Amino acid sequence: MKVKRIKTFVKGLDEVMQGGIPEGSVILIAGKPGTMKSSFAFNILYHNANREDLSGVYVTLEQGRESLLTNMDGLGMKLGGLEKEISVLDLGMIRKKLVQLTNQTWMEVFKMYLKNLKKNMNINLVVIDSLPILEVMAKFQSPREELFHFFEWLRDMQITAFLITEMEQGSEKFCHNSEDFLADGIIHLDLRRDETDVKLWLSIVKMRQTSHKRNYLPLIFDTNGFEVVAE
Ligand SMILES: Nc1ncnc2c1ncn2[C@@H]1O[C@H](COP(=O)(O)OP(=O)(O)O)[C@@H](O)[C@H]1O
Ligand SMILES: [Mg+2]
Repeated sequence: MKVKRIKTFVKGLDEVMQGGIPEGSVILIAGKPGTMKSSFAFNILYHNANREDLSGVYVTLEQGRESLLTNMDGLGMKLGGLEKEISVLDLGMIRKKLVQLTNQTWMEVFKMYLKNLKKNMNINLVVIDSLPILEVMAKFQSPREELFHFFEWLRDMQITAFLITEMEQGSEKFCHNSEDFLADGIIHLDLRRDETDVKLWLSIVKMRQTSHKRNYLPLIFDTNGFEVVAE
């Protein structure tokens, strides 16, 4: 059976993974701070809303909603006109709701939000920025087990999920609680420095149901959006 795919709309990237990311996957976007993870993820929601009529929700736990939207605006991705397709949900809202619904855990409220959005807006895509912060907010007691259930829950929702994970300086680990084993795909964004320049590189480290290469491709952002330069 042919797999339906979600395009990243990064020029050159969908072509090297059979047209895009298998629909319904749970994908990690991993990188150190400043590697444009948030921008890269927002880009996927933005272009899928604009060109494919797919709805998405961006859950920002790390950065305030306004700060995120200002950044995206600066990159030429304006939310204006796409309010029906893209919701940007910020942690402050969940906290307020949580106070009112005292006998629910953070995670229960979080899941309820996503479920309602799925029902009311028929969302196809979700970005969680970031997974480590979600783990802190949810106060996971046994992270590996709870993450396993969370990934399964996301798959049951039948949405394509992008989970941003923050890599530490000096470490090559994509994550801390075996999220890389659980994920269907991993996209690694890496800043590399030579004597004169700092460049951003991208690798598809893992992508289930997909034939792809793993080599690092230069990732460029300009007025035309994101592009990888494939060999
Ligand atoms: N037009 C641009 N081209 C390349 N890099 C940019 C551009 N605009 C902003 N940036 C860089 O992107 C970085 C932030 O991207 P962001 O998506 O927030 O990264 P992350 O989420 O990985 O921390 C900023 O530090 C800034 O230097
Ligand atoms: Mg970010």
